[in-house]
Amino acid sequence: MERTYVMFKPDCLERGLLGRILSRFEEKGLRLVAMKMLRITPDLSRQHYAEHVEKPFYPSLEEFITASPVVATVFEGPEVIRVVREMLGATSGLKAAAGTIRGDFSSSRQMNLVHASDSPESAAREIAIYFKPAEILSWDPSLACWLQAPGEG
Ligand code: CMP
Repeated sequence: MERTYVMFKPDCLERGLLGRILSRFEEKGLRLVAMKMLRITPDLSRQHYAEHVEKPFYPSLEEFITASPVVATVFEGPEVIRVVREMLGATSGLKAAAGTIRGDFSSSRQMNLVHASDSPESAAREIAIYFKPAEILSWDPSLACWLQAPGEG
């Protein structure tokens, strides 16, 4: 069982797409185990995007990510890090395949609606930035037996 950090960005909330995009993950059968709404500060942005701070696009990224609230979540499931990244599609909405979330809803490289961890190491780091262990709720939805056969998860 893996966990991944998934963050619905300011453009997602400003455009009123949170419910529709969250539904895609629910419909896929991914298990939501943590959720909170917050406003990202410049300090938090530098912590989250540490690997991008020196890049030319970082000032614009910080302005965007701090402009409106975000919704921070953790999803749990087998291979969930790869599964969510594939559901999102390529970073740029212009390059993302039709049928992916960015391919269907975004035309931007920066305003790409949702962030998701790209590896187990990033997932552990990002989850720890946004959530205390007690805020992550492991639970067994009663429908789970209709989402995967025994032994698959
Ligand atoms: P995300 O998956 O959150 O990871 C880093 C973010 O920086 C990315 O989504 C985009 O929002 C943004 N980003 C990545 N590359 C560029 C770029 N070349 N120009 C502007 N923004 C970018």
